[in-house]
Amino acid sequence: MMKLLREMKNKDIDRVVAIIDSHDDDDAEEAAAGYRQMGGTYDNFVYEKQGEIIGVTGFSSPLSCDETYWLSWTYIEDQHTHQGHGTKMIKEIIEIIKARGARKLFIKVSDYVDPEDGAIYATALKLYQTLGFKIEITHNHFYDDEEAQLILAMRLQDPKEQNVTDEHLNIQFDGIFEIAETEAAYSFSWHDQGEAPVNLNDVQIGIDAVRNKGARAIFLSFPSNFIQAEAPVLHAGFSKAGQLDDYYEDGIHEVHYSLYF
Ligand SMILES: CC(C)(COP(=O)(O)OP(=O)(O)OC[C@H]1O[C@@H](n2cnc3c(N)ncnc32)[C@H](O)[C@@H]1OP(=O)(O)O)[C@@H](O)C(=O)NCCC(=O)NCCS
Repeated sequence: MMKLLREMKNKDIDRVVAIIDSHDDDDAEEAAAGYRQMGGTYDNFVYEKQGEIIGVTGFSSPLSCDETYWLSWTYIEDQHTHQGHGTKMIKEIIEIIKARGARKLFIKVSDYVDPEDGAIYATALKLYQTLGFKIEITHNHFYDDEEAQLILAMRLQDPKEQNVTDEHLNIQFDGIFEIAETEAAYSFSWHDQGEAPVNLNDVQIGIDAVRNKGARAIFLSFPSNFIQAEAPVLHAGFSKAGQLDDYYEDGIHEVHYSLYF
């Protein structure tokens, strides 16, 4: 297969931001801020057609997970879409990610319907599903009242048989934060070395604090083997939203909880 992707360099930032801007100016602003931070183009790739950059894609891999990858900003310039470039670009980035030893690849997509341009991410969703990604979680009202987040995933290696042991953690909630790219959706930060698995009182303090900030919703997630987390979280009024299978490693999922005001 001819290579169409090359690593993105700092000198490509303006061109790449223009490509993203051809679809959505808010995304372009967010991406520009990310790229301009030191090392911001790291693990990003540009797609070239006859020497001109017309697409961008990339990936990241959370340190807390075993060979788990996320696809990041993925765009083909608007005037070049529907000619097969997106499919080629995404297939090639998947090969690059596979070559890094990835076990599983995740991608987040919004179902936003723009008043003028319609369902601007619908092509992406269909393309990912055609390539074999499956929806694992749908968080309704995630980015905004009318905008859900869909998390899709695809395995890049067969699952390994694992003996998973329960994790007995004592965690301490230590803050609330608005989730990036959302309108008033919050989450809680926490660290371990707390005094109880999950202190129900603290969950309540967090809920009250975000309500005072005008939150629409709270989203929390915990590893599936941290089994003591679930009871207090459900007791506080959260519902189970689903799980990302084998997220941390084969056999350890990421369980998601949501609470809407
Ligand atoms: C998602 C995205 C990258 C896809 O890029 P693309 O170059 O249009 O992708 P493709 O051309 O391979 O496929 C798109 C469609 O065009 C069709 N197509 C491909 N080649 C074609 C051709 N020669 N003639 C007509 N249609 C064609 C495909 O079958 C596909 O159709 P479908 O949506 O009915 O399944 C692009 O639409 C985009 O940048 N979208 C906005 C940003 C976004 O949603 N990013 C992903 C979320 S982060």
